[in-house]
Amino acid sequence: MTVVNNSKRRAPKINHTDTGKENMSLRLGDEAPNFTIESTEGEIQFHQWLGTEWGILFSHPADYTPVCTTELGAVAKLKEEFAERGVKVAALSVDSLDDHKGWIHDINETQDTLVDFPIIADPDRTVANLYDMIHPNALDNMTVRSVFIIGPDKKIKLILTYPASTGRNFAELLRVIDSLQLTANYSVATPANWKDGEDCIITPAVSNEQAKEKFPKGFTEVKPYLRVTPQPNK
Ligand code: BEZ
Repeated sequence: MTVVNNSKRRAPKINHTDTGKENMSLRLGDEAPNFTIESTEGEIQFHQWLGTEWGILFSHPADYTPVCTTELGAVAKLKEEFAERGVKVAALSVDSLDDHKGWIHDINETQDTLVDFPIIADPDRTVANLYDMIHPNALDNMTVRSVFIIGPDKKIKLILTYPASTGRNFAELLRVIDSLQLTANYSVATPANWKDGEDCIITPAVSNEQAKEKFPKGFTEVKPYLRVTPQPNK
């Protein structure tokens, strides 16, 4: 009998980009693929660059485009918020390093900020293909607005894909980071629309007896499967 390790199996997906190579869809819990590539902050060896921090890797369709200009400006303005949470941020498009460098001047000027996080230059689509960021039926030859949040264990914790016409809400990414960092350390989950400081949900694996010990601030049993407690680390 052949024993198959399911954790290593992924449904193969045809890659429709012009490389002709087959790629695999990434899923939550997968290791974030490593790569070495040029960026506006020098060469990046991705895993080494992440170190033991959290990471956000996000693609945008193209340089010198309006929505992308506002997005990169918004990320630059959130520098302190990302730093407080120990999150490194890298953007990517399939444009050249020279284009990125020229465009940064425009972003800084028009968005009144200072872009000092790396923008990866991926004209060969190495990273775009590794992370399946090109969706040719939506946008030809460009990366869509993909987002990957990566944990300190290098595992993918969140995948989001936005269309080219919709600029992302980076406050939502900070909210997800807050939830991920909280739930990594406490036996809680966070409810719909939760924000840092609000009540949390006790995970089902925790019995009421255990909950009394783990959550000294107490908890409310709305239903046996729905128990609410004040945020444990506040
Ligand atoms: C933009 O960033 O404005 C954009 C880029 C590609 C397609 C549509 C919009």
